[in-house]
Amino acid sequence: MDYKKYIAEKIKVDGVTEEEVYDSLALPPNLEMGDFALPCFKFAKVLRKSPVMIAEELKNSVATDDVISEVSAVNGYLNFKINKSGFVRSTLEKILTEKDAFGASNEGEGKTICIDYSSINIAKPFHIGHLSTTVLGGALYRIFHFLGYKTVGINHLGDYGTQFGKLISAYKRWGDKETVDKGGIRALNELYVRFHKEVEEHPEYEDEARAYFKKIEQGDEECYALFTWFKELTLKDVQRIYEMLDIRFDSYAGESFYSDKMQPIVDELKEKGLLVESRGAQVVDLEEYGMPPCIILKSDGSSLYATRDMAAAAYRKKEYDFHKCLYVVAYQQNLHFKQFFKALELMGKEWSKDLVHVAYGMVSLEEGTMSTRKGNVVFLEDVIQKCIEKAYKIIDDKNPNLENKEDVAKKVGVGAVVFGALYNSKIKDIVFSYDKVLNFDGETSVYVQYTCARANSVLQKGGVPEAYEIPELSTEEIELVKAIAEFPEVVRSAAEKYEPSFISRFAVDVAQKFNKFYFDCKILSAEDETTKNFRLALTVASLQALKNAFALLGIGIPDKM
Ligand code: ARG
Repeated sequence: MDYKKYIAEKIKVDGVTEEEVYDSLALPPNLEMGDFALPCFKFAKVLRKSPVMIAEELKNSVATDDVISEVSAVNGYLNFKINKSGFVRSTLEKILTEKDAFGASNEGEGKTICIDYSSINIAKPFHIGHLSTTVLGGALYRIFHFLGYKTVGINHLGDYGTQFGKLISAYKRWGDKETVDKGGIRALNELYVRFHKEVEEHPEYEDEARAYFKKIEQGDEECYALFTWFKELTLKDVQRIYEMLDIRFDSYAGESFYSDKMQPIVDELKEKGLLVESRGAQVVDLEEYGMPPCIILKSDGSSLYATRDMAAAAYRKKEYDFHKCLYVVAYQQNLHFKQFFKALELMGKEWSKDLVHVAYGMVSLEEGTMSTRKGNVVFLEDVIQKCIEKAYKIIDDKNPNLENKEDVAKKVGVGAVVFGALYNSKIKDIVFSYDKVLNFDGETSVYVQYTCARANSVLQKGGVPEAYEIPELSTEEIELVKAIAEFPEVVRSAAEKYEPSFISRFAVDVAQKFNKFYFDCKILSAEDETTKNFRLALTVASLQALKNAFALLGIGIPDKM
């Protein structure tokens, strides 16, 4: 039962919608005050009355019943107490019957969400900078799917541009098949780095590279084959990481896929009088909107990143008829997205309003920054591997006799990296610290995983009850049930705000409340059978909620730790 909805329906304020009331209903800081509170400050302006008076008046208009046991007005807040045992019963019942589907809905039925994420660059390292887009996109993919949307995951590969000419030039001069086959991305990156070093002495390499790129575009057999091979090698290499992170895509249509799909965009822009010349280039003027022009064609007629993105957006609309198309890309590209979204809007594409740049902040390691060209990069795979090794050491220390230590270390290590990127609001910059993400007592995935192992162990000893009654409830129990009951709403707002961190925070909150319950209320040695059965049922429900949350984040939970 949605108590907030139940309460919102009963409150009538002139000039304020039921939805606004619903959104304003909050959880008070402690249970003494009530289970829900409505701050009346917001209504003061509309009603031209003091919040204290509004709360008083509203109090008299809301009658108590089976669900609402008490209404009080305190300092401009309208506080509600609800019938606890009814609330606890209906919450547990819901979780225990819906199980893995607890929190899911079909509100997205018939709608498609395209998610452009990870979107790696061919032949370039998959580095720590790709962590956020990959795990944020992966989480959004699962969240929308859970809400009934059809989701299309797109890896918009960076597989177009002169850098591929550079790579061919470098490969032909210094490379050999065996080394590259064996070394994959790392070998390709070394060639790329060497090119940039040597071109300083040999500027003519630059022209050669440009010529090779032209050949790729023209479909020259040898160059195109090399390009395809680089691409296959890269994708094979990153597949290992995607598997570790449980990430999947429905399409790998990258930038080069749009080579032959840009002309119609250019033609349409011309037709609509939107293309103007600026220093030899063809641009869409955006001065009126406070932005530099969106460059569509360079003076030599070649296309740009934005041109390909415009073609890609149009293609996706036609192919998938999306309800929303999300781009999970770092905030450094804010301007790029604003520009081409605007250009599409000016073209009269009404669906341009459904394009969303889901921007996120930078991840850096404590050790410092990096540059692809100079070659000092931090490979994401190395970070994950190091986390797994560290996790293994900790687990081995704490519980040397644990079975499947490797498997547990993998779930803990990978989880730590993923959770580290998904715990804070996505726009914040993060400094990644191994010690922090692997802290068993912190706001971390391993803390949640450990809590689940604890719950599992309780259930193994006590069994899963077939039936249960609601006994006299303790504060810890009520707090825990209230936290779990929030899950469906948490999932919904995570989708609405494109913010998987809501789910990470939910998990930590539930885990903390479960641990409080575990230490303060005896589960297995409860005072009587009714209480014990209820507590076991509450343990099952807590574990289920944590499992569902972690499934959306893409983090595994070991049975034992
Ligand atoms: N490959 C690009 C980069 O690494 C990201 C592409 C994002 N997607 C897009 N449609 N522009 O910066």
